[in-house]
Amino acid sequence: MKQLISIEINGEVHELAVAPQDSLLHVLREELGLIGTKKGCDTGGCGCCTVQIDGRAVYSCMTYAMSVQGKPVVTIEGITENGQLDPLQQAFIDAGAVQCGYCTCGTIMAARELLATVPDPDESQIRHAIAGNLCRCTGYQKIVDAIKLAAANSA
Ligand code: FES
Ligand code: FES
Repeated sequence: MKQLISIEINGEVHELAVAPQDSLLHVLREELGLIGTKKGCDTGGCGCCTVQIDGRAVYSCMTYAMSVQGKPVVTIEGITENGQLDPLQQAFIDAGAVQCGYCTCGTIMAARELLATVPDPDESQIRHAIAGNLCRCTGYQKIVDAIKLAAANSA
């Protein structure tokens, strides 16, 4: 049976009726139309559904919507400020790190947690941070380059 919950997404509080088994990914995409967060495997294996919950990068497909009450959620739609792309979004464009783009939003959200805690990461720290985000297109080097570029541009 559905229950009414209150969750904060990108700084906005939403009252929603959700079933106990509804994932955060389902609620974001199907209830709120926030389709920047992608559905890939839906089983915790690809990372394209990554969002930030309380600042931590988390797979939204493996997170019950009910469990995020009281914890601010940020999706890719929430990182643009005053019409300006987040430094990571701009760096992914500038470094050519976007091909089909299906992995990109999740990878940026994982990288965002890294840069918030390690502002000048080395390559191994970057690769570790995005190890849970699969990309079938880029071979990862351009993604690593983009995250380094974002770090440099934010310094
Ligand atoms: S869709 Fe969540 S990890 Fe693949
Ligand atoms: S750019 Fe296509 S999966 Fe990463």
